[in-house]
Order: sequence, then C-alpha cells, then structure tokens
Amino acid sequence: MAIIISLISCVVFLLNYIPGEAKQPNIVFMVADDYGWNDVGFHNPDMITPNIDNLAYEGVILNQSYVQPVCTPSRNAFMSGVYPFKAGLQHLVIAPPQATCAPTNRTFLSQYLKNLGYATHALGKWHLGLCKWECTPTYRGFDSFYGFYNGKETYYNRTILGGMDFRDNKDPVLPDVSQYSTYIYAKRAKEIIEKHDKNEPLFMYFPFQSVHAPIEVPVSYENMYSEIKNEGRRKYSGMVTAMDDLVGNVTAALKDTGMYDDTLFVFTADNGGWIPYHGNNYPLRGGKTTVYEGGTRAAAFITGAGLVKKGYTYNGMMHAVDWMPTILSAAGGKPVDTDLDGIDQWESLRTGAPSKRTEFIYNLDDENPPACGHAAIRVGDYKLIEGYPGPDQGWYKPETVSGEKPDTGSSIQIQQTNVFGRQLFNLKDDPNEHKDLSLTHRDIADQLSKRMAEYHAQMVPANYPAATIASDPDNYNGFWSPGWC
Ligand SMILES: *[C@@H]1O[C@H](CO)[C@@H](O)[C@H](O)[C@H]1NC(C)=O
Ligand SMILES: *[C@@H]1O[C@H](CO)[C@@H](O)[C@H](O)[C@H]1NC(C)=O
Ligand SMILES: *[C@@H]1O[C@H](CO)[C@@H](O)[C@H](O)[C@H]1NC(C)=O
Ligand SMILES: *[C@@H]1O[C@H](CO)[C@@H](O)[C@H](O)[C@H]1NC(C)=O
Repeated sequence: MAIIISLISCVVFLLNYIPGEAKQPNIVFMVADDYGWNDVGFHNPDMITPNIDNLAYEGVILNQSYVQPVCTPSRNAFMSGVYPFKAGLQHLVIAPPQATCAPTNRTFLSQYLKNLGYATHALGKWHLGLCKWECTPTYRGFDSFYGFYNGKETYYNRTILGGMDFRDNKDPVLPDVSQYSTYIYAKRAKEIIEKHDKNEPLFMYFPFQSVHAPIEVPVSYENMYSEIKNEGRRKYSGMVTAMDDLVGNVTAALKDTGMYDDTLFVFTADNGGWIPYHGNNYPLRGGKTTVYEGGTRAAAFITGAGLVKKGYTYNGMMHAVDWMPTILSAAGGKPVDTDLDGIDQWESLRTGAPSKRTEFIYNLDDENPPACGHAAIRVGDYKLIEGYPGPDQGWYKPETVSGEKPDTGSSIQIQQTNVFGRQLFNLKDDPNEHKDLSLTHRDIADQLSKRMAEYHAQMVPANYPAATIASDPDNYNGFWSPGWC
C-alpha cells in the first residue's frame, strides 16, 4: 500500500515538474537560531558579518519577512507550509522528553525536493521531534543528517538535560569535544559539497546551532569585540561572527566546486533574538517568545540563481509558511496539498513584484498566561494582539556596558492600557509598536479580531504532552534517542 501511494505521488510530482525551462538550482536554506534583527551587519554596522552581508547585498534583503516567536513552530512552518496552530505546534517548543513531533502526515519540503531529483542534506538542529524514527530527518526526506535532534545543546560536549545529542545519519556519535561545533558543521558542509554529484541538484537545509544559548564561543571570536564590556553580549557577538565564518566557508566551497552560480540561497532567523541571552532586536519591540515584531520579524534575505532583480531591499510581506511553496517553485515543483497556508512567492521575489500576501497570523495559542497564550494577526498595515504578548515587552538596546542587564520591564514606558488585553498598531507608521491604537480605532480592532476568529475556527488543540520517563537517555547509552512513542 505504502509503495503504491509513493508511486502515485511520484507521478504527481513528475507531472508538476516542467522540464526544460531552467536548470534546477542548488538550494542552500540557512536558518540562524535565535538571531536578532539588530545582530546582523546589514542592519547594524557594529556586527562583524561580512560573508552574510555580501550575500545579502548581492541579492534581496527581506524587510518584512516573518517567522514564529519560537523555534519548533518556525521549523515546521518552513518544512510544511502550514501554520503551527493547525499542526498542534502553537504552544512553545518540543521539549526533549515530550512524546510528540511535527505531524508526519504532511509532506515536507525535503520530501518534495527529493521527488524532484534533489540530493537532500540536513545539518545542524532539527527540533521537530525525535520520539520515534518516523519523526527524524532521514525519515522525512533527507538523504543525510549531521547534527542534533533537540532544540538546544552545548557547543563542545553536545549535551542537553544531561543527555548527549548528536547523529551522523542515524548513528549516535560524539564529534571531537575540543572543537567548537561551528567548525565541525563547516567541515561536514564542505565535504557534502565536494562529494556532491553535479548531475543532480543539491538541497542543503542548514539550521545552524548558532547563535542559540548557551553562550559559548572560542576566545578568538570573542576578542573581535573587545570594545564591548558586557561579557554576555561580547561572547554572543563572537558567536555571530563564528556563524558568519561558517557561511563564508560554505560559500567558498560552492565557489571552489563551480556550484555557486547555480545556487539559490535563503537565509532567515527562526525567531527574534532572545533578550535574556544577549540577542538584540532594537529598534523593534520585544524578542523571542513574544508576538511583537522583535520576536517575529526576521533578519532575512534571498540571493543567487534565478533572481532577476537583485541588490535592493524588498518590503513585501513574506511569512515562514511561504518558504516551502516558494522554494519548491524555484525548483520547478508545486505542493500537492491544496490546504496549505503558504503562498508561492517565487515570482514576486524573483522579479520584485508586489507580494501576494496581504495578511498572516503571528500565532494563535489558547494556553493561558503565564504559559504565553496569545493571538496576533496582521492585515495590511494593521496588527492586532490579543492576550499575553510574551515576557520581554520593551525596547532593548544592545548591552555594551560591563554587567549591564537588559531592562525587562519595570522602567520601560509601556504605553498600553492592559498588557493582557488587546493592542492595535499601525506598522506602516509605527513599525516599532510604540502607540497602541486599540482604544482610538476600535472599528479596525474589531475587524481584525473577527478575521482572527475565522482562523481560530481552524485551530487544532496544542499537542503539548507531559514528560515521558521512557525518553531518559540512560536507556540509550546516554544519547537522546528515538523509540519511546
Ligand atoms: C494529521 O495528523 C494530525 C495529528 O497529528 C491529525 O490531527 C490530522 O487530522 C491529520 N491530517 C490528515 C490530513 O490526515
Ligand atoms: C558539558 O559542557 C557544559 C558547558 O557547556 C558543562 O556545564 C557540563 O558540565 C558538561 N557536561 C559534561 C558531561 O561534561
Ligand atoms: C573556515 O575555513 C578556514 C580556512 O579553511 C578555517 O581556518 C576556519 O576555521 C573555518 N571557519 C569555520 C567556522 O569553520
Ligand atoms: C525597512 O523597514 C523599516 C520599517 O521598520 C523602514 O523604515 C525602512 O525604510 C525599510 N527599509 C527599506 C530599505 O525600505
């Protein structure tokens, strides 16, 4: 039965692919973890990111490209083209001992590209569940995987909650613990590129470990920011530059093998910078875990093969769910599912035409505070937030002074009547969300609220199970491993 289904879908894929039009590009899809709006050179000249900046300036800087407030939901959106609130992934992230994963009945971008003839490789952080093999990357369209299954881990001994987490395909391995992980990913990426058979197009999905906490970096990178007296921000900035070096090495390997000119690059943060861990989104409001712009408006660009208009900033609206159909379109394919939230934006990004998107949901999560339940929608220039927007609600400048801690609330002038009530902003006039219009523009707030309720009717309950003891890495030679759901 399964074989028949995959044969049928294979035929469908082939029918959807129009050969002879253009060569299928190689695709490098880079996701920077917890990377702030203000943590990249093309937004902030204090950051040392020459490789990222060069790629961005050669291509199209995306000025209104949105993601989810946290890691797991953004990754599921990238891969499936479906809003997290329809996948049960709207509430926080998948924690290591939770017996759940991204719904396996959705076709991932990697599976579509595999069927279009791509060699598919994933490196870095998965964070879409691991309780059974069917949840893991090599069962979800990837030929190879090199990295960790959970959401965060240390950069040297590669542990989380006392368990090791590293795989070479399915095999638990622990690469040299004296090497900072950014180097080992760069090395593997180079090997994949060098070994790649150029008769096939390459898809490299590269969700970086960087620059998520813990704040760890080789001293050589930290020293590049010696003028920053705040230790956390200094180290975090070094992590950013280590990641930039990795990007430079991937680019160099593609150039050395003659693949660069045929490669399309997408770069996006998975969510905004995390304020308590020195990420920075200034002047945007808030940070990771909030539905404010600082948590959801991503540092992002697209560059390379297939783009006809380059070297500018695109202000059209783009959302995480759009990447799946957009990248697939660049590869000459089209999703089979007709109920996706993602819009194919390839033509718009390729030519600079207006975005096909006019509205989106930031998130819909019914879990009550303090567990971050919230709802937010954007329609045109307006944005409505209902419920608790998340913990870091202010405007935080980069911490430069020794010992300085980000100001997480008390002294910040929050000009809203009720942090748990509704807030309305006009993002065109007020992109940094200073002026709540919910009391003066009630009619607009009501319209957006009504539209949000239509989406809410499609919500599935959050799939957020309690911890499962059987997940204990002690049962698996110390490694977080599939087999307990
Ligand atoms: C996919 O699985 C989810 C549960 O993970 C279920 O709620 C949903 O109905 C399924 N969808 C389809 C199309 O089978
Ligand atoms: C792993 O490294 C972290 C620091 O990143 C340290 O706190 C922890 O004790 C180490 N664990 C082991 C098992 O060495
Ligand atoms: C990038 O490549 C250079 C040259 O091989 C190497 O010295 C450097 O350590 C690499 N950087 C990373 C982050 O792997
Ligand atoms: C990017 O968006 C900001 C609003 O946040 C706007 O002020 C700026 O002009 C835009 N940049 C470009 C180059 O269009």
